Amino acid sequence: MAKKVIKKGLTKLIRTKPVILIVTLHPDGTVNAGTFGAYTNLSSDEIGIAIGKPSHTYKNIKRTGEFTVNVLTKKIALASEICAQEIPPSESELDHASLTIEPSRKVKSPIIKECVANLECIFEKEMEIGYHTFVVGKCLVGYIEEDFIDIDGGLDVVKAEVIYNIRYPEPVYSVLSSPFKI
Ligand SMILES: Cc1cc2nc3c(=O)[nH]c(=O)nc-3n(C[C@H](O)[C@H](O)[C@H](O)COP(=O)(O)O)c2cc1C
Repeated sequence: MAKKVIKKGLTKLIRTKPVILIVTLHPDGTVNAGTFGAYTNLSSDEIGIAIGKPSHTYKNIKRTGEFTVNVLTKKIALASEICAQEIPPSESELDHASLTIEPSRKVKSPIIKECVANLECIFEKEMEIGYHTFVVGKCLVGYIEEDFIDIDGGLDVVKAEVIYNIRYPEPVYSVLSSPFKI
């Protein structure tokens, strides 16, 4: 089959990761939640996320040095679009999305109860990439719903129906099915 040469929007050729909500705290303690998809695992306990510099998430991470990562599933998919909206810092996106928080153990930013997996993270370093900055975070502790633990101890993304945005920025999402072994 012939292949078309692509010169613009190159990273659309690989798309992104399951959608996560990053939770941080505003200076007055209001809980902020932002939607993110451009991230990757860097080591067994480090992740890197491309975060827009004007975002509340970035400013809060830089000020507090910490954040939590919360994995969305099909059941609560609407939260992805709600937490991507411009919501004033005096309001929590999580109230708009009807999601609830639970205290974290090692950081002040809370985790989201309805999310299938959560990580508590601290800021390690960053690298500027134009509009975004690539934030490297160290994960201190994580939580996973017992029914969705895969045989390797990680998250069973198929069973949990984690969501992928497959045409960002359009609100088109998908879940994975039919895993196969080679
Ligand atoms: C599916 C999806 C994925 C997104 N991924 C990213 C991302 O990886 N990096 C980013 O800077 N913004 C991303 N956004 C946009 C942010 O969610 C948006 O800028 C949001 O307002 C940030 O919230 P905050 O200002 O409360 O931090 C994404 C939005 C959606 C809907």
